[in-house]
Amino acid sequence: MARVLYPGSFDPVTNGHLDVLQRASHLFEEVIVAVAHHNAKQALFTVGQRVHLLRQSTGHLQNVRITSFEGLLVNFAKEQGAQALIRGLRAVSDFEFEFQMALMNRSLQPDLETLFLMPSEEYTYLSSRMVKEVSRLGGDVARFVPECVVAALKDPESVPQA
Ligand code: PNS
Repeated sequence: MARVLYPGSFDPVTNGHLDVLQRASHLFEEVIVAVAHHNAKQALFTVGQRVHLLRQSTGHLQNVRITSFEGLLVNFAKEQGAQALIRGLRAVSDFEFEFQMALMNRSLQPDLETLFLMPSEEYTYLSSRMVKEVSRLGGDVARFVPECVVAALKDPESVPQA
């Protein structure tokens, strides 16, 4: 399997995402990270800013490409020639939503598999939502996100668009 797609909101990227991404980059020839244009979720960073922060944090991974997409994920995966989707699974609480999404995507495109990777257990409780809340309330998030994101959370408007 040559090319896989790792989709998500990444608002913003956390060390948990990077852990999953690093594992995928060791297993597959190319990993495309796809940032979703989401109307449903209230985002802190624009899609362009999220792409920028991901690029800043993944420069050391040669076979990783960062991009964004609109519309149905399965269509974008097909367009990109991806054979599978990668999703991180942190805990049982993730399972129901992930299972539902994987089966919906399978019914839309039967030959596109969803593969789940577990991040290191130290990231089990980590989410972008929690990181934003801790940061907003003045807590230290340096252990949870790459350096560029620590700075970005302090001043979201300073982050350039990719
Ligand atoms: O990081 P997230 O928010 O858990 O990622 C969810 C995401 C972006 C992968 C999912 O919402 C998605 O695929 N959105 C694109 C629209 C789509 O294809 N929806 C049907 C999938 S069930």
